[in-house]
Amino acid sequence: MPLNENRQRFDPHAEKPAVPSFAKLPRHLAIIMDGNGRWAAQRRRPRVFGHRRGMERAKDIVRACGDLLLESLTLYAFSLDNWNRPKSEVNTLMRLLVKFLKSELEEMMESNIRFRVLGRREMLPEFVMDAVREDEVTTAANTGLNLNLAVSYGGRAEIVDAVNAVRREMAAGIIEERPITEELIAKRLYTAGQPEVDLLVRTSGELRVSDFLLWQIAYAEIYVTEAYWPDFSREELYRALEAYAGRERRFGRLGKQMREPNG
Ligand code: FPP
Repeated sequence: MPLNENRQRFDPHAEKPAVPSFAKLPRHLAIIMDGNGRWAAQRRRPRVFGHRRGMERAKDIVRACGDLLLESLTLYAFSLDNWNRPKSEVNTLMRLLVKFLKSELEEMMESNIRFRVLGRREMLPEFVMDAVREDEVTTAANTGLNLNLAVSYGGRAEIVDAVNAVRREMAAGIIEERPITEELIAKRLYTAGQPEVDLLVRTSGELRVSDFLLWQIAYAEIYVTEAYWPDFSREELYRALEAYAGRERRFGRLGKQMREPNG
């Protein structure tokens, strides 16, 4: 593949690539983008080289998910634990994030994509929040793919934040005092209003969930590929979707019950 193939400027008049059809598609696809550092190390390059290529991959996969007409795509870009990485790497990732937000806005508008950040946004530096706000506000009325970028994100923290929001609303009399239910929590998650995750993809072969969307992946199918994130091409995505299409989801019931719901 030519080096610049993924780096072309967005051209609104370019033809969209044909997408294969699948027996079924996930409504919500979530991806743990792992392996940027190892990909770079394999090439004896600094970690930032892997992150840069990883960002180009993310752009590519957003485009593919828009073309496939998925409802939601959530990408794990930066966890709460990632704040503990060396300062220089944190800075690099923040700068890349802003670059992504600025360079993708035009395409998001053209492709009707609604952008949101999921996470403890109050921890983000102001120059990042400015770019986040601009993309969120500008795309707020878009009705196509929901693109969620998990940044400063932790799954347990998200549940804690949701429970605290319920408590605050009860204390303020906004909702009546009553036992906390799943619905009360779900409606206050960062992903409120979006479908639960149907397919969770992780790259680079690790068999971990890493505090990602803990509530929303309760019944998700999991797909792990050995490919490092910078190598996660459209073809890799299609392989994951093909695997998903072949899975039988039972949600705790018997397969027979799912196939004959009235039987
Ligand atoms: C995991 O690779 C990746 C991350 C911690 C960050 C993900 C960031 C990107 C894909 C680039 C920025 C993307 C956007 C959309 C702004 P790692 O560093 O943990 O790799 P390793 O496990 O091989 O060391």
